Amino acid sequence: MINSTDTEWWRTAVIYQVYPRSFNDSDGDGTGDLAGITSRLDHLSSLGVDAVWLSPFYPSPQRDGGYDVANYRDVDPEFGTLNDFDGLVATAHGLGIRVIVDLVPNHCSSDHPLFQEALASAPGSAARAKFHFRVGQAGGETPPNDWQSMFGGPAWTRVVEADGSPGEWYLHLFDRSQPDWNWDNSAVRADFELTLRFWLDRHVDGFRVDVCDAMVKAEGLPNWPHLTKGVVSPIDGVMPPMWDQEGIHEIFREWREVLDSYSGTRMLCAEAWLQPERTARIVRPGEMNQAFNFAYLEQAWDAPAIRRTIETSLSANDAVGAPTTWVLSNHDVMRHASRYGYDTHVELESGVGAEDPQPDRALGLRRARAATALMLALPGSAYLYQGEELGMPEATDLPDGVRQDPVWERSGHLIRGRDGCRIPLPWTNEAASFGFSTSATTWLPMAGDLGSFSVEAQDGVAGSTLEFYRAALALRRSLGWGQLTWNESPDELIDFSRGGVRVIANVSSVARALPQGCEVLLASGPLEGGTLPGDTTVWVR
Ligand code: GLC
Repeated sequence: MINSTDTEWWRTAVIYQVYPRSFNDSDGDGTGDLAGITSRLDHLSSLGVDAVWLSPFYPSPQRDGGYDVANYRDVDPEFGTLNDFDGLVATAHGLGIRVIVDLVPNHCSSDHPLFQEALASAPGSAARAKFHFRVGQAGGETPPNDWQSMFGGPAWTRVVEADGSPGEWYLHLFDRSQPDWNWDNSAVRADFELTLRFWLDRHVDGFRVDVCDAMVKAEGLPNWPHLTKGVVSPIDGVMPPMWDQEGIHEIFREWREVLDSYSGTRMLCAEAWLQPERTARIVRPGEMNQAFNFAYLEQAWDAPAIRRTIETSLSANDAVGAPTTWVLSNHDVMRHASRYGYDTHVELESGVGAEDPQPDRALGLRRARAATALMLALPGSAYLYQGEELGMPEATDLPDGVRQDPVWERSGHLIRGRDGCRIPLPWTNEAASFGFSTSATTWLPMAGDLGSFSVEAQDGVAGSTLEFYRAALALRRSLGWGQLTWNESPDELIDFSRGGVRVIANVSSVARALPQGCEVLLASGPLEGGTLPGDTTVWVR
């Protein structure tokens, strides 16, 4: 059962991201669903996580994997029903696992009834004011400004008015099927409050808030000739007009009040690709509880860079009294078991094609486990992405014809996108779909060797990635920890102590001596004769 006296549970929580399409399919249609998740919650319980975050399962045409929401207050029939959702929450809570759902407030699907109403309404109408409709430049022929969509191409699409004439343009920072809401509009705010309350009433423990830093745009939508990728920084001291505008904080404060009016502790986690000092402003008292640490996720396997990011993240969050979070993988980036298998720079969201250079899988997994052991020892909260506990690699050989990420089309087939980290999970060793589904075909194909990564193949097997994650999470929970203090160390090591526990990550290929006479509590890989091999992390006492 949930421990309801633990009001600050989110400060140290390990939160596991479920991508509903790919977790487990209960009805044999090749796509995961809510009942499928419920039936496998025992896996998360034996893993030892505190909470699960569910990526969107709302009615959606799935043009952007459900981040194109057509109805914020229901379940897509493909994923089940509201009853299934309630069953999932009740089962999770019974197992002591909290449930966080995804809130997508920057944009909706173009299928959303309010956007359909806006399209059918006249320029200047109240219906259009809920979105960003503008007259184009050059007599209406060209977009109202020069903003680029995050998925490639212009951030504006022109509509056809009711009389058949070419008309206004609407803003979409992502796909054209994802119109941006106008957060200056009070009806939009009121509608989202209903959405918050709808899920809070259904006992969710919080929300992960999608691209929350883009919700408010700079007055007048001024031109911005740069395209941002990854963590956004000011250019010449100016923040891009679509990111991190001051007005977002007022909205978060309003939401905080709504959440605090409910019993128990309900939390908000910000998805904002900003530098630690800027994300920290979102987690000031009275706003959100925590924010993803994408500066950390973006670091290559490089000790000085990782150490610096740990320091800047902790100091930025400590200054506002918020916990720092840590994350290595999610549904938008190449899985860390694969990206650390390259020694060259990796574009996190670009994907890999079958003809591209392939990662060194063994090296990638070794480093990924070392990186995970390091992450789980850091003070704060950690996010895991489904499949990383299996050491699952990125699917780097998907045929281009099956790709679903809108980036692939919008980039004119230049960027393959994020499908490689979204393929279904293997539960058993049996083909065709490894216990994920009774159907032999799945929404994204599963590679033939996935069975060796399955839960069945690793359960109870000493040294398996699954058993390593279980051991790390159990220890993490039982250790007293304490404040982080850095130990003197060569550049290639990350070496700190927390209370009685010393954590050493060897971010190099050269073995080092282990501290004399230490007791090894956890090792991310085999230790050889009193040494700490390269690309290995230990927790010792
Ligand atoms: C967030 C989601 C990503 C989605 C984008 C647009 O970054 O994590 O998957 O494509 O928002 O909604």
